[in-house]
Amino acid sequence: MTAAIQRSTPPRHGGIDALPRLLAEGYEFVTRGCRATGSRVFATRLGGIPVVCMQGVEAARLFYDEERFRRAGAVPRPVRSVLFGIGGVQGLDDAEHRHRRQMLRRHLTPAALDALRDDVVGALRQRLDRATGPVDLHREAGLALTVAVHDFCGVPLPEPDVGQRFRDMQVMVTGAAALGPGRVRAMVARRRVEMLLSDLVERTRAQDGDRLDDPLTTVSLHRDLDGRLLPPDVAAVELLNLMRPTVAVNWYVGLLAVALARHPHVLDQLRGDPAWRLPVVQEVRRHLPFFPFVAARTRMEVPFGDTTVPDDTRVLLDLYGTNHDPDAWDDPARFEPARFVDRPVGANELVPQGGGDDVAGHRCVGEQLTIRLLEGAAGLLADDFTWRPDFAPVLPRGHLPTLPPGGVVLTDVRARTP
Ligand code: HEM
Repeated sequence: MTAAIQRSTPPRHGGIDALPRLLAEGYEFVTRGCRATGSRVFATRLGGIPVVCMQGVEAARLFYDEERFRRAGAVPRPVRSVLFGIGGVQGLDDAEHRHRRQMLRRHLTPAALDALRDDVVGALRQRLDRATGPVDLHREAGLALTVAVHDFCGVPLPEPDVGQRFRDMQVMVTGAAALGPGRVRAMVARRRVEMLLSDLVERTRAQDGDRLDDPLTTVSLHRDLDGRLLPPDVAAVELLNLMRPTVAVNWYVGLLAVALARHPHVLDQLRGDPAWRLPVVQEVRRHLPFFPFVAARTRMEVPFGDTTVPDDTRVLLDLYGTNHDPDAWDDPARFEPARFVDRPVGANELVPQGGGDDVAGHRCVGEQLTIRLLEGAAGLLADDFTWRPDFAPVLPRGHLPTLPPGGVVLTDVRARTP
């Protein structure tokens, strides 16, 4: 006879409210909570909201099981309204979610991703070529990405508006984790861009004649499963779902430069050997922090380890901690691109952009684009230019997302002669 396993609710951590601790510990918050409780799952309260935090490859496998977790109601409205906008794919479930997601994936074909990468790399190369002094790489990459993604989506962007649009896209990213004025700035930026895109959607619908085959047209004419066109403000949210995170790849370009500044031998390895680009990019995404966690709600009781997470509980999956899970990665704290050479990567092991299934689940639809763009940036930094870091390659813990204070500034940027 087998004894029934006795499971308890997850242990508690973080006192009355752990928000101050989260703000101070940043990406380390869940890891420290796990260490303190001796568990890979714990219950806490963040800004008055009860949540359960989970970490590790097994946690990710459960989290991305649609029968166990749903997204509706997972992210509190104030965070959602800044980070994703209201009504977008992130908060949908099941058939409705798959249908909307398919629309977003339609233009992200391998050929289109290559073309977009080439556009961005070409524009960034020109910007670096023209530089006569120190270059803020994060900003220059962001400007190149802003122009290229507008072009890709079919959204007009007059030259004088490039700087403001770039800033709007950036504060939507920094503002998501901010309190006070940072959050207000992000809301203003989102409102401004959503209004512009929603107006464009209405004009696209009203147009006669041949239709273009671009994301603006696809989103404008998309019908949900009930056969209705999206409300223009929701169409705007979905277009922004392609545009804002593409611009945010500039954070990863900055983090790539941080990694190369910290590990000059990796830069040497990259030079003249494009085969290293993918392993380096994967290790940057695994090792360095960007998105801290993702949220969902249980649809049933979910047993995990020797605990049970109750039904209808808000759960945060720790992406950064899962990327450092010692069950999946040898010496996870070490930056080692070679770990990706000839190693198959499980769907729930490398999760900086979410885990689970790429086609039907909530995994980032832009992951392959991100990888391609970063491979392009690695080529530029290794093969096309020489440069010196004019920044301390430190990443302050409490900033989400984080970059060296003062920016990722390169000096002595010179085109390399092969
Ligand atoms: C800057 C690098 C990026 C990071 C760190 C990132 C991270 C993420 C994360 C953590 C998620 C949530 C996964 C989940 O809910 O389980 C996500 C979802 C998503 N990302 Fe990205 N992403 C990036 C780039 C992109 C790009 C380039 C695009 C568009 C081309 C994009 C579009 C989306 C969309 C539409 C979703 C929602 C998918 C869904 O709910 O079905 N992301 N991303």
